[in-house]
Amino acid sequence: MISDDLFKCSKSYILMENKIIKGFSKLSRIEKLKYLGEISGKGEQIEADLDYFRLNDLEQQSLLDEISENTLSNFFLPFGIAPNFVINNKVYHLPMVTEESSVIAAASRSAKFWADKGGFHAEIVSVEKTGQVHFLWNGKSDRLKLAFPELKKELMCATHGLTTNMRRRGGGILDLSLIDMSHEMENYHQLHVSFNTLDAMGANFINSCLEMMASTLETFIRSQVDWTDEEHECEIVMSILSNYTPDCLVKCWIECDIKDLDDVFDGMTGEVFANKFLKATQIAELDVYRACTHNKGIMNGVDAVALATGNDFRAVEANAHVWASQTGKYKSLTKAEVSDGRFRYELKLPLALGTVGGLTKLHPLAKLGLELLGDPSAKDLMMMTAASGLANNFGAIRSLVTTGIQHGHMKMHLSNLLNAFNANKAEKLMAKSRFAKSTVSYSEVENFLNTIRNTK
Ligand code: MEV
Repeated sequence: MISDDLFKCSKSYILMENKIIKGFSKLSRIEKLKYLGEISGKGEQIEADLDYFRLNDLEQQSLLDEISENTLSNFFLPFGIAPNFVINNKVYHLPMVTEESSVIAAASRSAKFWADKGGFHAEIVSVEKTGQVHFLWNGKSDRLKLAFPELKKELMCATHGLTTNMRRRGGGILDLSLIDMSHEMENYHQLHVSFNTLDAMGANFINSCLEMMASTLETFIRSQVDWTDEEHECEIVMSILSNYTPDCLVKCWIECDIKDLDDVFDGMTGEVFANKFLKATQIAELDVYRACTHNKGIMNGVDAVALATGNDFRAVEANAHVWASQTGKYKSLTKAEVSDGRFRYELKLPLALGTVGGLTKLHPLAKLGLELLGDPSAKDLMMMTAASGLANNFGAIRSLVTTGIQHGHMKMHLSNLLNAFNANKAEKLMAKSRFAKSTVSYSEVENFLNTIRNTK
């Protein structure tokens, strides 16, 4: 039974009953379902619908339930493999999770295309991450600067216990600096801390260190002799890692002789293709509308691997887009070069990924995804993920400058459309043959299905 008290609320907003519910998280799952059934008018059906997508294995299900709050069911997305990625001369079959029909197909096609042309080359440029303590302090700025070497020692000392394991493995806090930002906002200062978190994405580690530093900073400032009362005051605004990691960078590129591109598209020489490709990428550098879509195509591949390996794809996205704007103008993340008979295409982006901690070993499919990659280090995963991004982007530009995007895209989308129209097996077969060589559109598919259904 759902307790009546829980429904005694003052303000209104939700669905049919249009009211705020208090204490929703405290309801049992069954109570939550009952409540949602009542207010949505779906009654018991909601329970049946959500139960359908739960696992029979109760242990695994409860593991998934506990990942988040108010969990009622699982939301499935396809988990697939883009095979045959040659990266630094080793073959990988990349796990990818995506809702977009053409992403894995595009990655696989590009992987196959580059496999006999040297594959993807990748290298780690740097692995530093950053965290900040943002605080307000009103005093003579020289005083804080002069005291900083002593403060730095205390901050390092205070975090010693937290960093022991990380240091033992070769990581930890790399550096610490004080930044006076009072020209931007009254009294505003920062502790800027850089970390090496090795194979962990490191968010919890970084945030714990920063919070410890924040309280050490307050104590340090309060205990300074000769400082004025005002100078003894320090207001911590917040302590948090930055998801922008311009010093945790990976580079991935593909290259070949231009004549090796002769097989890209019938009726187009490698040279014509390479030059058209170059123009397309230049447009993505100079035009922000195009840059956004160009980078989205890269993130199709990057996010899919990030998701399949239990990484935080929102952090990955935010990071990449700030990097793309580093010059003050949002630009493409890639660069193409055609010179001396060679074609070279490079993606460079910041990627803060983890292969330990977080969801990586907790989510059964993320764990499996990493196992399929041979349990890589974070550095290896950065290179594989960048290769996936570059492959997807190469595939997109290749289509855009040859057949146009809809040709391959809508073919992949055909299955979705057929399912949306509840097509049966026979109808799907007929539709696939009917659209094998012509453009797929929602209305064309609808008309086709209506026609064959009416002629039965
Ligand atoms: C679609 O998800 C991605 C593309 O739009 C990327 C691009 O235009 O480069 C095809």
